[in-house]
Amino acid sequence: MYTDLVMDHFSNPRNVGEIEDADGVGQIGNPVCGDVMRISIDVDDDRIADVKFKTFGCGAAVATSSMVTEMVKGQTLAAAAAISNKAVAEALGGLPPNKMHCSNLAADALHLAIQDYLIKAGREAEVPQILKALPKAHEHSSL
Ligand code: FES
Repeated sequence: MYTDLVMDHFSNPRNVGEIEDADGVGQIGNPVCGDVMRISIDVDDDRIADVKFKTFGCGAAVATSSMVTEMVKGQTLAAAAAISNKAVAEALGGLPPNKMHCSNLAADALHLAIQDYLIKAGREAEVPQILKALPKAHEHSSL
């Protein structure tokens, strides 16, 4: 049912926790199941210097969150903002169709953390520019 990569990230999740005094924090609830995801980031020179996640979610949510933290560490804000929920699920080799909604949490929480950082940094005007490549929130929630 789950790929080896999903099982690996579920069993040994990377970057679990919360960054103290983070530069940006994003939290989102999954409308399908009510689970919650929180991602905190530190930004240095417009790159994600550190990223951590906490979730009250299922195994698939843990795996997608773990994967997204690995995908974006060291990336520019723009590159991180362009990572979609679908791309995270694909990087894990896919999720069972009835668990695709779980992948909505990870990238969306990350995008909210980036938005939070930009606003706190007084760069609110750049939000539409940096987050322009985003798919609509919960584009895949019907899967
Ligand atoms: Fe809620 Fe998977 S069942 S995130």
